[in-house]
Amino acid sequence: MPRKALIAANWKMFKMPTEAKAFVEAFLPLVAGHDRDEIALFPSPVLLPGVIEALKGSNVAVGAQNIHFAEEGAYTGETSALQLKAVGGTHTLIGHSERRQYFGETDEIVNKKLHTALKHGIVPVVCVGEVLEEREAGKTADVLKTQLAGAFAGITTEAAAPVVIAYEPVWAIGTGKTATPEMAAEAHAMIRAEVGTLLGAEIAANMRILYGGSVKPENATALIGQEEIDGALVGGASLKADSFAAIVKY
Ligand code: PGA
Repeated sequence: MPRKALIAANWKMFKMPTEAKAFVEAFLPLVAGHDRDEIALFPSPVLLPGVIEALKGSNVAVGAQNIHFAEEGAYTGETSALQLKAVGGTHTLIGHSERRQYFGETDEIVNKKLHTALKHGIVPVVCVGEVLEEREAGKTADVLKTQLAGAFAGITTEAAAPVVIAYEPVWAIGTGKTATPEMAAEAHAMIRAEVGTLLGAEIAANMRILYGGSVKPENATALIGQEEIDGALVGGASLKADSFAAIVKY
């Protein structure tokens, strides 16, 4: 069975509620009936209920950009998997490089969040990727291996089935610099091989690995068209309905 691509919009800390509503109104007609790929939006927490309501019954799923690993508790400013689920969110990003860079998320925290998402039936999109110095030092494979081993610690092959991985080279995020399709495909193959080592060949063959980092309508076809690339996690170019729809229809 070929892997169904997932095209995901990471809105980061952008959009007012009115802008989110306007996006949905413009976007839905552009992707009506599109079932070749899965589509998901990842808005800020306060936008989630409104966006979920506006997308009800459509072919577009909604997820959070982050969850806490605890089910509830004294964690000021955080959102739990159960709260996400209660408002109808079905997916979550975990370990985005901005979370790692600005909020101190370690592989251990990523691992705890992954356990929690899987326990509650939330589809996790686990983000991995090297920074520029690591790539230049020839350490990309080691970094990806460490991040993956950390993320999947204690997770069984059976439990890991819903996991989606997003390969996002940090130097390509928001910089306009994209990995070439060949570079991305090479990293994806490394990731798939490592997932195979950690969890087995069968799950590795079925796991979706998205590419993220300056994906735009102009480069989407070349990237997602690679056999190894099973979709995209899109930041900047996902903020406008026409541009994100063009990526969905790569
Ligand atoms: P970008 O962001 O598309 O703006 O590079 C991607 C991401 O951070 O997920």
